[in-house]
Amino acid sequence: MILEELTVYRRMAEKQRAIEAQLLQAEKLSALGGLLSGVAHELNNPLAVVLGRAELLLLGELDERTRRALEIVRTQGDRMKRIIQNLLAVARKHPPERSWVDLNALLRETVELRAHQMHVNNVEVRWRLVEALPRIFADPHQLGQVLLNLVTNAEHAMAGRPGVLTISTERAGETVRVGVADTGPGIPPEHLPRIFDPFFTTKEVGRGTGLGLSVSHGIVAGHGGRIWAESTPGRGASFFVELPLVAEGPVETVEPPPTPVRPAIGSRDILVVDDEVEVRDVLTELLEMDGHRVEAVGSGEEALARLKQRRYDVVLSDVRMPGLDGHALCRRLAAEQPEVLRCLIFITGDSAGAETEALLEETRLPHLAKPVTLEALREAVAQVCAARGGSDRT
Ligand SMILES: Nc1ncnc2c1ncn2[C@@H]1O[C@H](COP(=O)(O)OP(=O)(O)OP(=O)(O)O)[C@@H](O)[C@H]1O
Ligand SMILES: [Mg+2]
Repeated sequence: MILEELTVYRRMAEKQRAIEAQLLQAEKLSALGGLLSGVAHELNNPLAVVLGRAELLLLGELDERTRRALEIVRTQGDRMKRIIQNLLAVARKHPPERSWVDLNALLRETVELRAHQMHVNNVEVRWRLVEALPRIFADPHQLGQVLLNLVTNAEHAMAGRPGVLTISTERAGETVRVGVADTGPGIPPEHLPRIFDPFFTTKEVGRGTGLGLSVSHGIVAGHGGRIWAESTPGRGASFFVELPLVAEGPVETVEPPPTPVRPAIGSRDILVVDDEVEVRDVLTELLEMDGHRVEAVGSGEEALARLKQRRYDVVLSDVRMPGLDGHALCRRLAAEQPEVLRCLIFITGDSAGAETEALLEETRLPHLAKPVTLEALREAVAQVCAARGGSDRT
């Protein structure tokens, strides 16, 4: 009897400790959030310029050596871009875009992405899936990212030696639990409390940034779930993700929007608004290369003045600017020239900024994240023009 009570007591204490650890983690992350999005914002502008310039140069006639060097600049710039996006993902409290998700299927798809590589590395995948697992209401894209992070980490941990990756699912009370276990070296006890911290990595420079698990933590927390690790050093590591079940109501399937058929677009009149001259110049050159006629101004005030004088097919505007910023520009346009709102595209350097996020949410205007690639720029311009149809050309 006493023994039983003791066990119950011990379990409660363990649970309490786990909850405290989760709370501490959440606090650490939210304290970092503001700083991270600030840094990311500062880096995005110069990176937009670097990438844009590289892209422009690559379009010209080049000797082989220069082309290779520029391609390296672009690849490394893309890598920086991914790091920045991860930083923003850590900082962002992005509400998940939910639909009904079959976790087993999502796991199979995720592992499939790494299947070939694992086969080559002598990693055997073992499945322990509970069929007929209830579906969960979650963001499949975000969850896929979590699972891929866990699988990739396990792969790295087993690198070089044959190993076994065990993927499991089970129902645990009112939750579903996913397990990703490897037979790598495991995690030393002194590292366990730190692995979910941003930038905590034991990998060599260039191999890991230490963001995978903190991003995953943020996503799982955003779903009201828990993520944790268990490990006996020398005997591998196991990661668990537990997600709450909700009763499956009438199925409201989220229909993917039909892919718009994008007509070839001819040259358009475009106004670029950004307070940084380098960003303005790169955007202008990229757009001019596509045959557009571009004018660029350095502030919201100037933009308003130009828009009073003449009409543009597309207005590309930064959000954060001294003086009249994107927010204010939007309000003025709504009051004075609402038709212009239909051709406004925001370019954001800090998609994590709460204010920016609120603005985008509120206005539902299309937006591009810095650093903008040529491809994304073309896509957005084409979409705005297509949405306005042929009627806009007079
Ligand atoms: N399966 C595992 N086995 C052993 N250690 C692990 C495992 N998964 C994570 N770790 C430890 O946790 C650290 C942090 O992992 P995290 O995924 O956050 O970053 P990373 O993998 O080092 O870099 P990134 O994911 O940003 O490329 C790792 O560097 C490693 O020390
Ligand atoms: Mg990782």
